[in-house]
Formats: sequence, C-alpha cells, structure tokens
Amino acid sequence: MEKILDIISREVMAAMKASGYEESYGKVTLSNRPDLCEYQCNGAMAAAKKYKCAPFQIADKVAAVLKENQMFEKAESVKPGFLNLTLSPGYLAGYLRQMEEDGERLGCKKSQAPKTILIDYGGPNVAKPLHVGHLRSAIIGESIKRIGKFMGHNMVGDVHLGDWGLQMGLIITELKERKPDLVYFAEDYEGEYPKEPPFTISELEEIYPAASGKSKEDEAYKEAAMEATYELQHGRKGYQALLGHILNVSVSDLKRNYENLHVSFELWKGESDAQPYIPAMVEKMKADGFAYISEGALVVDVKEESDTKEIPPCMILKSDGASLYNTTDLATIVWRMEDYHPDEIIYVVDKRQELYFTQVFRCARKTGLVGPETKLTFLGFGTMNGKDGKPFKTREGGVMRLEYLVSGIQEEMYKKISDNHTVEEAEGRETAKVVGLSAIKYGDLSNQASKDYIFDIERFTSFEGNTGPYILYTIVRIKSILKKYQAQRELPPQAQILPAHTDSEKALMLEISKFNGMMEAAFEEKAPHKVCAYIYDLANAFNHFYHETKIMGEQDEMVQAGFIKLLELTKKALELCIDVLGFEAPERM
Ligand code: ARG
Repeated sequence: MEKILDIISREVMAAMKASGYEESYGKVTLSNRPDLCEYQCNGAMAAAKKYKCAPFQIADKVAAVLKENQMFEKAESVKPGFLNLTLSPGYLAGYLRQMEEDGERLGCKKSQAPKTILIDYGGPNVAKPLHVGHLRSAIIGESIKRIGKFMGHNMVGDVHLGDWGLQMGLIITELKERKPDLVYFAEDYEGEYPKEPPFTISELEEIYPAASGKSKEDEAYKEAAMEATYELQHGRKGYQALLGHILNVSVSDLKRNYENLHVSFELWKGESDAQPYIPAMVEKMKADGFAYISEGALVVDVKEESDTKEIPPCMILKSDGASLYNTTDLATIVWRMEDYHPDEIIYVVDKRQELYFTQVFRCARKTGLVGPETKLTFLGFGTMNGKDGKPFKTREGGVMRLEYLVSGIQEEMYKKISDNHTVEEAEGRETAKVVGLSAIKYGDLSNQASKDYIFDIERFTSFEGNTGPYILYTIVRIKSILKKYQAQRELPPQAQILPAHTDSEKALMLEISKFNGMMEAAFEEKAPHKVCAYIYDLANAFNHFYHETKIMGEQDEMVQAGFIKLLELTKKALELCIDVLGFEAPERM
C-alpha cells in the first residue's frame, strides 16, 4: 500500500499545480502542532520567493482547491502561509480497512528488489561465557535481521565465533597441565580421538580465566600457550581434535543462551573457518602490489587524502608470519563473497571497533576482495552502563555474565507480577521470563544504537512509561477485551472499522496508519528504535482511547463491532512490531 503521507502529498501537490505553482512545493509532513492539525505543508513559504508574492496568497489558493477534496475534513491557510490539514475520518477509516484486508503485512509492501544481506552479530568467544558486551550485538543484530526479513530481503545472520588465536592455545596449555595423559597431547598418537569431550562446559569456562590469569604472571606459561596456538594453527592433529571438542561443548551452551534471548543465527561460522582462505588472499595482495613489508610486518596502506585523522595501515601478517584479527576478518569477507555474493554486509559491533573496521573495509575494497556493488556497513553500538554511568559490572566489580543479568531481571519481574495479583508460581515464573525479555530488549532497542545507555532494572521493568512491559501490558489489555467480547457474542459479518467518533479514536487511527512508512524507515536506517517509538505512541494512543471509550458498554452493535475491529488492528500492529524487535506477549500478566 502507498504510504498515507505520500497519498496526501500527492493530493496537495496536484492542488499546487492546479493553482498555477510548481507541484514540488506541495510536499506534506506530519504536523508539528498536533493541537492545530494532523498534517502540514509549508511549501507556500518557499514558493512565495519564486513567485514574488506573499506566502498566504499561495496558501489561500491551494486551500481553496483542497476544500473540494473529500480526503480532507479541513484544509486551512494560516498566516503567514502555512497549510494546515486534517484528514476526513471517512478517508482514514478506509485506509485502515485496506491495511486490515492486507492481512499479515498491514499494508507494508515487500521490497521489489530483494537483497542478500549478511549480518555479522553476536561475536561471542568460545569457552568464555557470554557477557553483557555481547548482549547489545545480539539484541540489535537480531532485530535488524527480522526487520530486513519482514521487508522481504534475504537476511543471513552469522554469529562469527571468536574461536581462533591465543585463547585456544591458553585452554590447551591449561588442559595439558591438568590432564597431561590425555591422548591429544601424545605426539606419536596415530589412532582415532575419542568422541567424548575431555571436559564439561563448566570446567571449560573455569579453565579459560585460570589460564588467562596464569599467562599474565608466568612468562614461560605464556610462551607455552603461544607455542600451542602456533601448533594448532599449523595443523597439529591432537590440538585440532581438542579444538573440535571445545567448539562443540561451547557452541551447544551458546545456542542455549541465545535461544533464551530469542536470538538465532543462520550460520555458525567462526574465525577458524576463515583460516583456509588466508594464504591465497595474502599471496594475491602481495602479487598485486598492495601488501608490503614495513618494520617486519606485512601491511596494506589504507589512508586516504580526505582523512582528517591518521588512519594507520592495515596489518595483514605479524613479523613472525602469524595472522591477526584483521587477517581473519578479511579472509571472512573472502568466503562471504564467494558463497553469498551479498549486496551488503552489516557488522553489529561495539563502536570502539570503528577505526578497526574502517581499516578492514578500506583494505577489502582496495585489494578487490569486494567490488563496488557490495556495501560494507559498520553499525557501532554504544556501551551499556550501570546506574553510576560506568560500564555495567557485577556488585563485586567483575564482568557481568549475561545469564545473571537475565535471571536478575526475571526475578525482579516475578516480584512485580506477584505483587500485582495472586498468580500460581509456575505461571508467574513463565510470564516473568517473557516480560523480562521485553524489558531487556526494549530497554536496549528504544535507544539509538550508537548511544550509550544506562541499564536501569527498576525503570526497564516498570509497567508504566516507555518500557517493554508497558507495551506488553497494552497488548494483554486488548487481548482481554477481545476475549470478553467473544465470550458474549460473535462479530457481525458486516462489522468494519468505522470513521472515528471521537478525537481519541481518530488519534489512535492516525497512529496505526503510520505502520508501513515507519517499517520502511526502520529498515533503511537500520533503526529498531523507530519501531519502539511507533509502538510507544501507538500504545499511548490506544490507552487514551480505552480510558475515554466504553467499549463493552457501547449500545450500538455496529459501532461496538467497529471498535473491536479497530482493537484487532491495533493488536496486530503491536504484535508485528514486537516480533521484529524479538520478543512476544504473554496471554495474561
Ligand atoms: N569476538 C569479538 C569480541 O568479542 C567480536 C567480533 C565482532 N565481529 C567481527 N567480524 N570482528 O570482541
């Protein structure tokens, strides 16, 4: 369906033209004075300069033309030359009926030219527990992916596991200290390696920090870990078998954690999957004359003339020939291009990695890993801070594990739910999980991604204000009215959304009508916060309407049926939106 703002603009542009002015002056925007009108056109102000007359003379003429137009209830020229527009309730009701007929898409067209978009988000590190830093990537990336899918694009999410480098060598070294007799360490071992991993996930999670701590204190230990990393990277069989076990154990745990967050990935590739592509890539960069040796290391220059700050060269190989984080990201681009030919690759990563990605992107373009037809996008997010304004930490000052953060919110939610009304423990816990997730995700997504924000459990779990639980509460309220209605009677077959009877009903209808425009913009700008802003306004408009209207007490059967239709549409819009944000509503709360 065409966006309502575009339809209105078209009418006003036609009126401009009919009045003898260039039609482009007829562009319409939402009103910034909703107390005066719903839409406005300020084109007469600009046109006056061109036509050398007073703006109101133009606005008057155009308003006179628009007065004849059934689409508008009011079209007023206001001095010095504004056009204030109010939609006719009948027209608006018709637009909403069309949205409703469109079914699950609510009038939002799928893209005519679907793109393949790879989205790199999550970025957890194997054998290290997920921490809050990974939370934002998961929440934002998942939402952008879902918005893209809704718009009809082929969205491919890749978790891009951190499964390469020194951390693997550290784990192997520590394991060797603890269990030196394992076959994985016997250099002359020729047989098959056991299928069962030699550790559990909790052991693994304890091994890594222990090893990391030791390596900081003990030079020899660190040497050993570096040696193990080198051997792993150069094909030592026993170590590669261990890597397989580390990955399996870790990945099943990660999957469980992500599932709890309603986050899923199409691809579970890791940094290690990029390694086979490195040698040929490096050779080509050298052969093409892009990569050269500087202070022993192999680098590619990526600075550009227009740079206002220094962009250092992109390092490809260290002086000992070892590859780096950069090398892996570049080689990852190689397989992504080969396997998917994406139109775009989006990286949802902490904004502190921005300079790094500038280097990687420039290097990839310069060396021809990606052509001009593929867009590389860095979507950097800000830090999640505690109430003290500093990065979110545990009470003891350590890095907060994601699991504890989530269970903390759920506990708080359970308290609130059981304080509100008596509820069976099991049902209350289940509801607390669903509502708790909305608190976390909405709390994050309602901010512009690039901004830092304060993780405020008290505020995020509140049923009032701009929060996930408030949105869910509104949906649950609608569900309960619909249930009550259905228990009393069936919807008459001729039921339909009727022209608004009151201001609050019209305001609700106007909010609903913005759905397709909002969704398109949220996708174009990769901005889930726009979805949040829409549902917050929508929920407010609904609750206002609800408080002013006796829905169940309405005597006129068709009027009441129209309300019910309007409620259903409101519910559908809210549900579609929370679905792309990555959470859902309970039946009761
Ligand atoms: N594993 C990295 C970290 O924990 C994030 C990976 C981001 N993605 C990427 N393609 N480099 O910081």
